[in-house]
Amino acid sequence: MTKALPNIAVLGATGVVGREILKILDENNVQYNSIKFLASKRSAGSTLEFKGQKYTVIETTPEAFDDVNICLASAGGETSKKYAPIAASKGCVFIDNSSAFRMDEDVPLVIAGVNDEDLRKHHGIIANPNCSTSQLMLPLKALDDKYKVKRMIVSTYQAVSGAGLKAINELTDNTKTNLVGMPYEPSAFKYEIAFNVIPQIDVFCENGYTKEEMKVTNETRKILHFDENVKISCTAVRVPVYIGHSEAVSVEFENDVDVNEARELLKNTDGVEVRDDVSTYTYPTPKDAAGKNPVYVGRMRKSIAFDKGLDFFCVADNLRIGAALNTVRIAQKVIEMELY
Ligand code: A2P
Repeated sequence: MTKALPNIAVLGATGVVGREILKILDENNVQYNSIKFLASKRSAGSTLEFKGQKYTVIETTPEAFDDVNICLASAGGETSKKYAPIAASKGCVFIDNSSAFRMDEDVPLVIAGVNDEDLRKHHGIIANPNCSTSQLMLPLKALDDKYKVKRMIVSTYQAVSGAGLKAINELTDNTKTNLVGMPYEPSAFKYEIAFNVIPQIDVFCENGYTKEEMKVTNETRKILHFDENVKISCTAVRVPVYIGHSEAVSVEFENDVDVNEARELLKNTDGVEVRDDVSTYTYPTPKDAAGKNPVYVGRMRKSIAFDKGLDFFCVADNLRIGAALNTVRIAQKVIEMELY
């Protein structure tokens, strides 16, 4: 007998990622018994449209989870820390976009289509990886299965939408003031983001890397079950782009890589789209990726730094595969695998 359809809640439904979650729940035609939308006291009582119907946004309280089977959450780490354990104790599967539980041993960290089997180990909380890690996992998993990753160096070029609505507005305001020669006092970022790049995302750790950079190292290891011998280093940079993270990736493998074969491999990988023909200047850019689901890969070339290495450029919509799309896909897997 198949399980009854779940009661779903979206926590943080009024936020940048939350709104994207609503769009994708609709696009993917996710089936449910009931759905409700939670946010803070600030927007409780406001209305929100979903599938042509109006819903009242509900304040997040412990009781709000009483009848919920699956919660898709994107309301920041503090909110998740407070409500995920409460929701889980009430039998709800809490799919969390924040970094609060990602490295907890009993919390699966999952990219749908990459490590779905890890979902079976959940104890009520499932974590969605950081956006820069997420987009890399689909191509990297395929390459690792074939060539076995030994070492990886990643440089990211991350869009402002990854830092929320305030950061999006700051790019607009900062650009306008720069264009008319007015001074600008940044608040979402440490420095002006307009016509600039900022080599800091999140706070610095003791080893000189930022937390964002260490997320790429640690989360990649957890998702792909790499041991400590696989070395991963990242430099994460914020750029004045609204939507779409880009990554320059250099990978050294245990086995020899043929670039044409690797290209064919990625062409046949679900969720990846190869745009790679330098003779026609074909390669992905964030503008192509915004609003789309695939992870785009281009500029594939044999490394001249590593003997058994490959370099490539990878671009994706950070609000989709990096956040909302994977959250919805995890929910779909949880429903399909009847893990709620
Ligand atoms: P609200 O609209 O009430 O502020 P963003 O990352 O785009 O800023 O969105 C954050 C999301 O998280 C919003 O939906 C926001 O709701 C929600 N949120 C923030 N703080 C809380 C909280 N303490 N409890 C519940 N939801 C919260």
